Amino acid sequence: MASTTRRNFLALAGATLAGAAVSGCSIIEGAAETSSGSGPSKVDRPLKESRTLVAYFSMPETTDPNNMTEDEQNSTHIVGGEVLGNTQHVAQLIEGRLGADVFRIETAEKLPLDHGTLEDLALEQQEANGRPKLKALVPNLEEYDTVFIGYPIWWYDLPMPVYSFLEQHEFTGKTIVPFSVHGGSRLSGTVENITETLSGSTVISNAFTISRDDMDRAEAEVGDWLGSLG
Ligand SMILES: Cc1cc2nc3c(=O)[nH]c(=O)nc-3n(C[C@H](O)[C@H](O)[C@H](O)COP(=O)(O)O)c2cc1C
Repeated sequence: MASTTRRNFLALAGATLAGAAVSGCSIIEGAAETSSGSGPSKVDRPLKESRTLVAYFSMPETTDPNNMTEDEQNSTHIVGGEVLGNTQHVAQLIEGRLGADVFRIETAEKLPLDHGTLEDLALEQQEANGRPKLKALVPNLEEYDTVFIGYPIWWYDLPMPVYSFLEQHEFTGKTIVPFSVHGGSRLSGTVENITETLSGSTVISNAFTISRDDMDRAEAEVGDWLGSLG
């Protein structure tokens, strides 16, 4: 399933977004990427001593663990019989390790579960540089020093609701730690885009990325990565 699906996805994306996008798809081993963005690779105080929030966007395309289509499998990870989005799973691993608070970024309007319809909508939003309205904002962001921000790669970039989230909160002075799940194109310049958007924050360059095909390894990789941040 994995490599066929990835090839199909990349072929489709390449056809739509042309060569520049495809060049961002190199497959490099290892989870964390230290060469993304211009920020430091480590946090300046131990994460366990920091007031930490894990904010994430994730879009599992079903809630039913039975008889999943290939697209539904690609967007989900099952833990104890519960269907999670891939990024949601990584967020929960980070949350559990750090004892952090968690916030799920959701759009005001429900997104379509059908994969093709979701892809079309996401591309339309990106081409329009849209900022979809969010269901809620973090009511107490000022209480946190460090904010992990998690997202799936959508069309070689952040999903547009994540831009809404970044722009509609005050992150100045905070440490931002990006993490992501992808279908082949790794971080795709998203750390640079977050760094540019949050110019008053310290965005850690040592961001975490994992393929949706490697979710069984996520727990170990998240553990290693968190260890490398401090
Ligand atoms: C609208 C859309 C666009 C996507 N675009 C990309 C992409 O450009 N590159 C990539 O590697 N994966 C892409 N994917 C695959 C997702 O990044 C991948 O399936 C991820 O695991 C989904 O995470 P989630 O379950 O947390 O939503 C896309 C998925 C969707 C739904």
